[in-house]
Amino acid sequence: MGSEPIDKPLDTKIDKKLVKEINKRRTFAIISHPDAGKTTLTEKLLLFGGAIQQAGAVKSRKIERAATSDFLSIEQERGISVSSSVMKFNYKEYEINLLDTPGHKDFSEDTYRVLTAVDCAVMIIDNAKGVEPQTRKLMEVCRMRNTPIITFINKLDREGMEPLDIFEDIEDKLQIECIPLTWPIGMGKRFKGVYNLEKKEVGIFSPGYSPKDDDGILIRDLEDERLDELISESQAQSLREDVELISGASEPFDLDLYLNGTQTPVFFGSAINNFGVREMLDSFVKIAPPPGLRPTATRDVNPAEKAFSGFTFKIQANMDPEHRDRIAFFRICSGKYTKGMKVRHHRLGKDIKISNATIFLARERSNIEEAYPGDIIGIHNHGTIKIGDTFTTKEPLKFLGIPNFAPEHFRRVMLRDPMKAKALSKGLTQLAEEGTIQVFRPLMGNLHVIGAVGVLQFDVTMARLKAEYSVNAAYETIDLSVARWVTCEDELILKEFTKRNESSLARDAEGRLTFLTTSEYQLGFAMEEWPKIEFHKTREHNS
Ligand code: G4P
Repeated sequence: MGSEPIDKPLDTKIDKKLVKEINKRRTFAIISHPDAGKTTLTEKLLLFGGAIQQAGAVKSRKIERAATSDFLSIEQERGISVSSSVMKFNYKEYEINLLDTPGHKDFSEDTYRVLTAVDCAVMIIDNAKGVEPQTRKLMEVCRMRNTPIITFINKLDREGMEPLDIFEDIEDKLQIECIPLTWPIGMGKRFKGVYNLEKKEVGIFSPGYSPKDDDGILIRDLEDERLDELISESQAQSLREDVELISGASEPFDLDLYLNGTQTPVFFGSAINNFGVREMLDSFVKIAPPPGLRPTATRDVNPAEKAFSGFTFKIQANMDPEHRDRIAFFRICSGKYTKGMKVRHHRLGKDIKISNATIFLARERSNIEEAYPGDIIGIHNHGTIKIGDTFTTKEPLKFLGIPNFAPEHFRRVMLRDPMKAKALSKGLTQLAEEGTIQVFRPLMGNLHVIGAVGVLQFDVTMARLKAEYSVNAAYETIDLSVARWVTCEDELILKEFTKRNESSLARDAEGRLTFLTTSEYQLGFAMEEWPKIEFHKTREHNS
């Protein structure tokens, strides 16, 4: 009886035309430790997709980025980093969005948060090094949404670990089951190629293999005698034995187990030599999921719903020093974007018109007329859009899983000019809203503590405070390395905990209680002492 509830989903009809566009899309990121070969692989993928014509284009940007040390060059390279933040390219009938995970000096919270906007990931492991710390951290984030992972073991042209030892390392450290889809034939100087276990084909390695070439020399039968000639009798024999062994010992690849993050299909190759990359890419477009359901506070959103929706996962400021504008990176979750469309900005309760959305091609930015679920659009604004903001046609949705991540580095901010206290607070709040630093006010004492996931953000913050807010401040080191947001169902226990730990507690920019301490060891100690208190490594944004 009576009128319908206002927040009833307004337009959840499935649009069949949209389904076609959605199924073509693959939105992913590469996770790896620095130097495993992310830049090289990215470049090869863009070459295969025809998005760049020659090797070196992505690499030179990385060199420029790595050389960044002062604020001026940080400013200068912003234009560079934005165009490599999202790279769109086509491969066969697929439209692929590759989101960059900054990994060197520019490692930051964005690196983690980007992973909340993708549907799948490719993990690169250096053949000689196995699983390294940064990969572990990024994998932890992928685990939060059970993101499907394809593994590429790189640098087979160099000596490294035996394949089964790498599998053991991955399975041990990352708790994911490795299912080989290709198998290497030797390594280092004896690296002769890979055997495709699915297609049962041998691909013979030749250094500098170009994507324009045919598929390399392929042998379709392991018993083919030409194999003995091509790769030597002994290597052919050990390949036959390896294949027999893994066919018997390894579990079969199971698409569902891959999609729920339990299994990872593994490919071997050498990114720099373009070898094994096409096999990986061909499987990737086939098995990696197109955009799927996305949870919101009220319901799951289907990408094929007619009504437009999406969320912001990254803010980049001052791309154009002339205009001091910000670009919000916005992931479309359902419906179709058309130029000039009106959407509801729910946090502000306002309708806005998006007329200047940008799409990021491999080498340039261009204004677009339409975009679909899985696509990332850039929306220019003057600081009105925050991370986690949801835009929809009408329905008041709030997408979940775009959190803040606990910072790992901390500095205390010392103001040099006491008259500027207000400007400092304002500057820090606004910079925190862009999501690369977090600001804490300790319960005891007056000074701001800022936290970041990567240390470069401290330099950027200080330089921007000066340039944009005329604040002259300095940092003081502080003996902290761990932060956890704390909650407790029992108010009295939380009160007692707060009283007893006042010197280790602070409020973040949104007023949430945060426990700051010197080490994981100290954290473990507190967790043991306060079993009813929950210590959170991530925190969802306020709506
Ligand atoms: P990153 O983005 O993950 O940090 O790694 P990047 O691609 O820059 O690769 C790191 C180093 O590893 C580079 O060498 C790169 O050439 C090399 N590399 C990448 N793939 C392979 C491979 O398949 N085999 C071998 N042997 N090396 C590979 P660099 O010396 O740091 O740079 P450069 O002078 O070669 O450009």
